[in-house]
Amino acid sequence: MTSLIASRPGTAPNIVADTDDNLAVALTNVSVYYTTPVERVPTLKEHILRRIIGHRTQYREHWALRNVSLRVNRGEAIGIIGNNGAGKSTLLKVVARIITPRTGRVQVRGSMLPLLQLGAGFNNELTGRENIFLYGSILGESRAAMRARMKSIIDFSELGEYIDSPLRTYSSGMRIRLGFAIASSLEPDILLVDEVLAVGDMAFQQKCRVRINEFRQSGCTILFVSHAMATIREICTTGAWIDRGELRLHGPVDEVIQAYEQQQR
Ligand SMILES: Nc1ncnc2c1ncn2[C@@H]1O[C@H](COP(=O)(O)OP(=O)(O)O)[C@@H](O)[C@H]1O
Ligand SMILES: [Mg+2]
Repeated sequence: MTSLIASRPGTAPNIVADTDDNLAVALTNVSVYYTTPVERVPTLKEHILRRIIGHRTQYREHWALRNVSLRVNRGEAIGIIGNNGAGKSTLLKVVARIITPRTGRVQVRGSMLPLLQLGAGFNNELTGRENIFLYGSILGESRAAMRARMKSIIDFSELGEYIDSPLRTYSSGMRIRLGFAIASSLEPDILLVDEVLAVGDMAFQQKCRVRINEFRQSGCTILFVSHAMATIREICTTGAWIDRGELRLHGPVDEVIQAYEQQQR
C-alpha cells in the first residue's frame, strides 16, 4: 500500500515536465490556509476601546490543504473523497483558480468547466435564459454559440417556463439543473464536479451520471468530488483520499475507497 502514497511532506517531486503531453492537471506542493478571527465581532463601544488601547484582533490559521501533489492525466476520471472539512472543495477551487494557493504550483492544460457550489457564476437578478448567456460568456462562448444550444439546454434542465423567471426564485435543485444543463451542452477538456449530483431528484441525478459518462467516453478529464462511493466507482478509474488537508492515498479507485472505508469503521 505504501507505494500508493503520493505525497510525503517535502519529498514530492516536481511532477510535470513542460513538454508533458499527457498532462491535464497537476498540483505540486500546494498548500492553502484560511484565516478566521478567533474573537467574536465586537460591539461599537468595544471596538472604540480596542482602538484606543491598541488591541489587535487575533486570527486563527487553518490549513485546508498541506503540501498536496497530485497529477491527473488527460482522459482520466479521478474521484476525490474524504470526510467533511477535509479540503476537497478547496482542492477543486485551487484547480479552478478561484483560490490562489499560499505555496506550490497549479498547472491546467485545456479548457476547463467548473461545476462547483450552487451555480457559482450565476446572477440572481437575471433570468435563467439570461444566465445561460452570462455563463457562456464567462466560459468564453459567443452569444450565437449559446443561442444555438439554447433549446437543448432548456430541455435538459427541465425548467420549462421557469427559464424566464429570475434566478433568485429558483430552488437550489433548479440552479444545479441549470448549471448542469449548460455544462452538458459544452465540450470542455476538463470537468470539475463538486457534489452537485447530490442535489436534485433521482431521475435527474441518473441523467447527469449518464451525461458524465458520455463526457468520459469523449476523452474529457474529470475531477469528481462526491460522498457517493457507488457513483465514484461507476465514473472514476483513480481515486484520491484527502484527509485533514493532506493527500493520504492516490491510486486505483477501488483501493482508495476500500482504504477510506476501512478507516471509517
Ligand atoms: N472561506 C473559508 N474561510 C475559512 N475556512 C474555510 C473556508 N472555506 C473552507 N474552510 C475550512 O477549510 C477546511 C476545508 O474545507 P473544504 O475544502 O470545504 O472541505 P470539504 O469540501 O472536504 O468538506 C474546513 O475546515 C473548512 O471549515
Ligand atoms: Mg466540500
